[in-house]
Amino acid sequence: MNRDAMDKSAVDLSVRIPSPKGILELAHPVLPASGTFGYGEEFEPFLPPGTFSAIVPKSISVEQRPGNPPPRAIETPSGLLNSIGLQNPGLDLFISDYLPRLQRYGVPILVNVVGKTIEDYCQVVEALEGRELVLGYELNVSCPNVKEGLRFGLDPEATAALISAVRERTGGVLMAKLTPNVTDIAEHAVAAQEAGADAVSLINTIRAMAVDWRSGKSRIGTDTGGLSGPAIRPVALRMAWEAAEAVEIPVCAIGGISNAEDILEFVSVGASMVQVGTHLYREPTCLIEILQQLRELLAQEGYGSLEELRGSFGRSSDRLPESSRPVR
Ligand SMILES: Cc1cc2nc3c(=O)[nH]c(=O)nc-3n(C[C@H](O)[C@H](O)[C@H](O)COP(=O)(O)O)c2cc1C
Repeated sequence: MNRDAMDKSAVDLSVRIPSPKGILELAHPVLPASGTFGYGEEFEPFLPPGTFSAIVPKSISVEQRPGNPPPRAIETPSGLLNSIGLQNPGLDLFISDYLPRLQRYGVPILVNVVGKTIEDYCQVVEALEGRELVLGYELNVSCPNVKEGLRFGLDPEATAALISAVRERTGGVLMAKLTPNVTDIAEHAVAAQEAGADAVSLINTIRAMAVDWRSGKSRIGTDTGGLSGPAIRPVALRMAWEAAEAVEIPVCAIGGISNAEDILEFVSVGASMVQVGTHLYREPTCLIEILQQLRELLAQEGYGSLEELRGSFGRSSDRLPESSRPVR
């Protein structure tokens, strides 16, 4: 697109997420990915955590979880293979010790919730309802690193049952975090939307492994783990596109995002917002530059807002043969 360059300060990066309680407006589209940002505190030396437009803390379950045996993460080509096993302090300690710190950052908190049963998820949401700045939830139905982690995520009906049950307990933003470990991500996104989700986020890590053939052992503490980082970005892009084509609700894209160009690619295929995960380990201060570049790049191409670009992929031509387009 070749339009007159705009003033970059005038570029509108805001994102609106409708929910039964009203519209949650985020100042810009960049959130931290759950589990790569802890509970914010580790980040404070690098950049005010409230620079993100909302905080997504590490998954919280009713009970405290010790996580998986070490080693829990290793580098793979262009990626990170982890098997943390959803270590977390549990609901009570989260409320008493971690939430007050997160509230200090002054931006919306979307609590990432995980559980073994529907009742587990509901219990966490009920306990957090009405607390300052807890304006929504990301339901993790997609962790590949624990035995029960994919129970909901692999079955669209189970995902829908979970979302419907949680929907009855909150009018805040409900975002379903989908797994890439399925054949048809669009089917899962549609099931989430129909069950009442206000947004879908994708992708969680891809089930993967790394072995030492000499010892015959896994290089991490469990046989398989979850792959993240730039290695998974093309897969995430394809899935974000398929999901965005299939649903009306906002799509939050995740997977290997490390700069503004990456974000704009995801927005062009229909994502409304994004999460940055693994890249935060490499460059914890990246957000400042990302936000500047988002405005610059959009202004250079003549866009007045992120929303104007959203879904522009494929609009101008019919380059793709019918067979490679997602089925709507
Ligand atoms: C070390 C690590 C821990 C993670 N923990 C969680 C978690 O607790 N809950 C969750 O929903 N996703 C978790 N994830 C997945 C990320 O939120 C994200 O979906 C994934 O890493 C892909 O994004 P990325 O390539 O930008 O890292 C974790 C990822 C990593 C690398």
